[in-house]
Amino acid sequence: MKFVRFIMKNAALANVPKHIDHFSKFSPSPLSMKQFLDFGSTNACEKTSFAFLRQELPVRLSNIMKEISLMPDRLLTTPSVQLVQSWYIQSLMEILEFLDHRPDDHRVLDAFNDALVTIRNRHNDVVPTMAQGIIEYKDAFGQDPVTSQNIQYFLDRFYMSRISIRMLINQHTLIFDGTTNPAHPNTIGCIDSQCDVTEVIRDAFESAKMLCEQYYLGAPELEMTEINANSRNDPISISYIPSHLYHMLFELFKNAMRATIETHEASNNLPAIKVTVALGGEDLTIKMSDRGGGVPFRKIERLFSYMYSTAPRPTIGDHQRAPLVSG
Ligand SMILES: Nc1ncnc2c1ncn2[C@@H]1O[C@H](COP(=O)(O)OP(=O)(O)OP(=O)(O)O)[C@@H](O)[C@H]1O
Ligand SMILES: [Mg+2]
Repeated sequence: MKFVRFIMKNAALANVPKHIDHFSKFSPSPLSMKQFLDFGSTNACEKTSFAFLRQELPVRLSNIMKEISLMPDRLLTTPSVQLVQSWYIQSLMEILEFLDHRPDDHRVLDAFNDALVTIRNRHNDVVPTMAQGIIEYKDAFGQDPVTSQNIQYFLDRFYMSRISIRMLINQHTLIFDGTTNPAHPNTIGCIDSQCDVTEVIRDAFESAKMLCEQYYLGAPELEMTEINANSRNDPISISYIPSHLYHMLFELFKNAMRATIETHEASNNLPAIKVTVALGGEDLTIKMSDRGGGVPFRKIERLFSYMYSTAPRPTIGDHQRAPLVSG
């Protein structure tokens, strides 16, 4: 029995390149926030979502797997990138198993939900593992501008693809697990149609502050200004994914705190981090400023490079140092 399964598994594995070729010929179907909200609220249908995802997820996985396979050989063959690649292959195979299952069988739908949860968990550590691969490559072969640019281009697309795949998986598993979120009745999957922006800012600030205090024994305060151009006294709320907003703000707060503390080591007065939230007719803007010395204009470009940091490099499992220098 074990032997049969082994042969079947190998046969499935041998077919993977064929499937990747097939599915990567399709372009991912873009979905707007409005489509996500509409689908989740009024006409949520598990069968429709299942039928969509069993095609769309292989398309997105295959497209990015094609790009992974185009990375420079010396990067592709690092153990970390090999590991990431094996996760993608495994997940693709698991979804393909549902291609010829009937959507009107609830056991199929339940098994699909379980498969999605397994896949999501499998890919939890993709970001640090990929980063580790880049570090291994950088240490072994150094850095040249062309490769750095190619890696930057690849990582932007890779991480964007990962966010989109996780978003699709999260929406399906959250909407069809049969429960509602009592703390946030306005949420549809992971989207909050009334996301309280200032609350998320405060949360992100408090978490960064806690880490900062642990590491530096002090932290700057927060000064927040809210401007709602639409109706002066109403709290600011938008349709958004609170966890994404939190993540971005948390990273910015950590940066601002480290910069503030490092430039004011000698003084006992830490200037506050100032945040302005402005809701206009069409957009919401969040502006964060600190007195951490800033970044010279000449170096601004570098900040967006995955390979740039002025912080000491944390080693894997180094929880002492992780808080403020590891995102
Ligand atoms: N608010 C800021 N003031 C001054 N310098 C900053 C600020 N934010 C970022 N920087 C500079 O940009 C660099 C890159 O920031 P980035 O957040 O990408 O990486 P990091 O903070 O070094 O590490 P991590 O990946 O853990 O966030 C920092 O190392 C720092 O030199
Ligand atoms: Mg940072």
